[in-house]
Amino acid sequence: MPYTHPVSRPWLAGRELEYVTEAVSGGWISSQGPYIPRFEEAFAAFNDYPHGVACSSGTTALTLALRALGVGPGDEVIVPEFTMIATAWAVTYTGATPVFVDCADDLNIDVTRIEEKITPRTKVILPVHVYGRRADMDAIMGLAYEYNLRVVEDSAEAHGVRPVGDIACFSLFANKIITAGEGGICVTRDPHLAEQMAHLRAMAFTRDHSFLHKKLAYNFRMTNMQAAVAYAQTEQLEEILETRRDIEKRYDDALTDVPGVTLMPQRDVLWMYDLRAECRDELLTHLADRGVETRVFFKPMSRQPDYYDPAWPDLNASRLSDDGFYLPTHTGLTAQDQEYITDEVRAFYGAA
Ligand SMILES: Cc1ncc(COP(=O)(O)O)c(C=O)c1O
Repeated sequence: MPYTHPVSRPWLAGRELEYVTEAVSGGWISSQGPYIPRFEEAFAAFNDYPHGVACSSGTTALTLALRALGVGPGDEVIVPEFTMIATAWAVTYTGATPVFVDCADDLNIDVTRIEEKITPRTKVILPVHVYGRRADMDAIMGLAYEYNLRVVEDSAEAHGVRPVGDIACFSLFANKIITAGEGGICVTRDPHLAEQMAHLRAMAFTRDHSFLHKKLAYNFRMTNMQAAVAYAQTEQLEEILETRRDIEKRYDDALTDVPGVTLMPQRDVLWMYDLRAECRDELLTHLADRGVETRVFFKPMSRQPDYYDPAWPDLNASRLSDDGFYLPTHTGLTAQDQEYITDEVRAFYGAA
């Protein structure tokens, strides 16, 4: 049964169609074309960073960032336990080893547990701004300075959280705050890193196109059509963030006194409205039967087959992922939609 209230839906209310039509009618459908630098410049400027490098996904953005920093076999990268697996996979793709750190109660990396995981092999700290909540970047930048490490921010879920690290990587998948359908972008202050990422994204071609490739690189390019959508989305980003702030407030107001429901700390930007609930799975079935789609929280990395830890540590991330989920969250969600959804949550707990 299709959901009457899907968990996410893209918001394409700006000039997306106009720009894509222009790209297609001009024949600029590959990764050559004016919307790519236009989007890169606009998105980097939004973040107060001078350089943007657009690519094919959030996962490839992370991979480019790590490769540009020289991360490879023998290196270790600090990664949160509580994240989407792409964060850890990007490290594995480079040949390096992800070293996991448990999360705090706000789901972000527990900065008090990072230092104990730093070794002489550690090269990068890779925090994630989970569900739009900014990780404690002051503490992370302090550790990076002390141990001479680089910082890559996984900002896949946090457009609007201003970066401070060496590189920040954003996803533009269709469920993200802004989208290109599929896509990603890295922003950095360092022109050398920007050049490296652009080089690696496009098969490490040399300027003379002599087909001599001096590095193992990738085809992680974004098309001009995707960039046309992404550029139109960037034009609306401030407004989208504002709309989402209202959505967050309405959910907070409607759910604050429901017994059995635990609200999560305020987000810096709203990607998904996350919460915790008693009898979560029964609640989610109740909502699904009434047309409301939800998603459970991420599973901790050391519970994943790729990173299974036989010691099975007693993780905060496991405890939180067992009863956490998120409600439909997208820019077009109306107050009426939210009333329907929250009334169903309240009804389940007999709080109607
Ligand atoms: C925290 C995080 N990192 C990375 C990614 C990967 O982004 P993409 O799906 O664009 O490859 C996601 C996507 O869902 C994510 O949530």
